[in-house]
Formats: sequence, C-alpha cells, structure tokens
Amino acid sequence: MTVTNIAVVGAGVMGRGIAYVSALAGFHTTLVDVSKEQLDDAYRFAELTAEKGIKRGKLTEEQSIQLLTQLHTSLDLEDIAKNADLIIEAVPEKQVLKQQVLEVADQFSPQHAIIASNTSTISPTELGSYTNRPEQVVVMHFFNPVHRMKLIEIVKGLETGDETVRVIEEVAKTMGKETVQVNEFPGFVTSRISALVGNEAFHMLQEGVASAEDIDKAIKLGLNYPMGPLELGDLVGLDARLNNLRYLHETLGDKFRPAPLLEQYVKAGRLGRKSGRGVYDYNESGEKVTK
Ligand SMILES: NC(=O)c1ccc[n+]([C@@H]2O[C@H](COP(=O)([O-])OP(=O)(O)OC[C@H]3O[C@@H](n4cnc5c(N)ncnc54)[C@H](O)[C@@H]3O)[C@@H](O)[C@H]2O)c1
Repeated sequence: MTVTNIAVVGAGVMGRGIAYVSALAGFHTTLVDVSKEQLDDAYRFAELTAEKGIKRGKLTEEQSIQLLTQLHTSLDLEDIAKNADLIIEAVPEKQVLKQQVLEVADQFSPQHAIIASNTSTISPTELGSYTNRPEQVVVMHFFNPVHRMKLIEIVKGLETGDETVRVIEEVAKTMGKETVQVNEFPGFVTSRISALVGNEAFHMLQEGVASAEDIDKAIKLGLNYPMGPLELGDLVGLDARLNNLRYLHETLGDKFRPAPLLEQYVKAGRLGRKSGRGVYDYNESGEKVTK
C-alpha cells in the first residue's frame, strides 16, 4: 500500500505540526477541524514556520511553495476521509471525542486506509475497537514541536497488523523521523515519564521548594534536560497534561494523581503558551514574557 493522501484531524498544537511535516514530505495533506478559526490559524502557522525555516536555511523557497500547495484545510471529515490513505487523528485527549472521530473515519474512508491516533496515553486496542478495521489502527505518537522533534513512537494494539506498522514506518521515514516500537501500556514510554516529571515539578512549585524559573533551571542545567518540566508543560498545554495525568492515574495508580496546583491552573484557564498564560506569561507570538 502506498500513501499519497493524508488527512490530519484536529488543527491544534499537534495536528498543525503533523500537517506541516506531512505536506513538507510531499504528501497531499488535508487538515480537518470543527473550527474554521483553528484551520486558518494552522495555515498561518505553516506559512510562518516555512518562512522561519527559509531564514534559517532549513528550507528552500521551492520546498516552501511545494509545502503550501500540498496543504489544504477542511471542516468536513466525511468528505476528506473518502480519499484518504492515512488518517491521523489529533483531537483532544478525550476518549469520547476520539471515538466519534474514529467512527466517522472508519465509516467514510476506503477499505485500505490506515487510521492512526496521536494519543499520548490511550490504548490502541481500545481505539481499534471503535472501528471495523482494528488491524489497520495504530498509535503514531508525534512530539511537540513536531517539525523539530525527531521521534515517532509507534504503538501496536492487540489486532494491529504488521503491514500497518510497516506502512507507518515508511511514512515516518519520509517525514524525516526516527521511530521506536512500543508495546501497548498506558502512557507508552515517553508520556509516562514526562507526565511524572511534569507533575512532580508542579508539586514542588506548590510546596514552595523553588520558583518556577529555578525549578526549570535546575532540571536543565543539573540534569541536562533541553527544557524545564514547567516550560514544557506550558508548551504541551496544561489541559493536555492534566488529561494525560488523569488517565494515567486511573490506569496506573496513585503516583500519577494530578498535583492540585495544576488542576487549579487549568480551572483558571491558564493552559500554557496557547492561552497566553500558564506557569509563565506569553506574548501574541508565543514568546515568554519576563516580568
Ligand atoms: N500537546 C502536545 O504536546 C502533545 C504531544 C503529543 C501528543 N499529544 C496528543 O495529541 C492530541 C491533540 O493534542 P493537542 O495538544 O494538539 O490538542 P489541542 O487542544 O491543541 O487541539 C485539538 C484540536 O482538535 C479540534 N477538534 C476537537 N474536536 C474535533 C472533532 N470532532 N473533529 C475535528 N477536530 C476537532 C479542536 O478544535 C482543536 O483545534 C491529544 O491526543 C494529545 O494527547 C499532544
């Protein structure tokens, strides 16, 4: 099976990044969302990212033009699914939403199409059970920011076929990514570790162990992490982080109980970079504002 047409469902933080690397790799890519505003924002993101890429010498003018011609947007999943060889779902980490999207994708896409989910935590077996093609359902877990992060975790469900994994590996390679295969377990490898470290940082902030800046600085310079756990939380989205923790708490136990301060931030609408305020404050271009 050769993949030509990719539909990416959800034009948020992840979906827009996935659509960007997909179009850049030459796939005919359509980004689907329920919000026109998100789709417009996502297209602008692609234009801006390509522009920055040219300035930094990462991209040629020609590649940028090709990318933007290969990238389309739509509000109609039923219509776009009809021509998709691969559908990558990147809607919020809520089971009921994932189920709705997977059911529509399954109902309207051609028989050969593969349905991949960018879920950070949810079982691919469960996702497969929402469709009539569980052998063609797989987790394709990208990292944020997608155009910079090298890895895709591929997680097979009970019924996922070897051919599905082979095709996803090939697509990932064309997108310039490395892959690892992970056995199904909540949180895979990366989300499980990242959720735990991020949650602990919130506990420390709440306990007054150090300021947010110093917690992040300590982890970066002392443990050689490229980003501090609190700034990473803001990048990922604190609501997304909280959703992951809730799921891991339910499936893996008490050590993943979300820190009360994190719950409070999300209640207050402090969702991180995307809302302009999380642990830190951000300006309109998403840059951190130092007070
Ligand atoms: N944020 C991260 O760093 C990160 C990293 C890896 C994986 N993930 C996973 O990726 C997925 C998406 O996360 P995100 O942070 O991009 O979310 P987000 O909230 O930024 O974006 C989600 C998008 O989905 C759209 N949407 C909602 N319902 C929809 C529907 N029925 N059909 C089409 N679009 C719909 C929303 O309008 C929004 O644009 C989640 O499963 C998350 O766990 C996130």
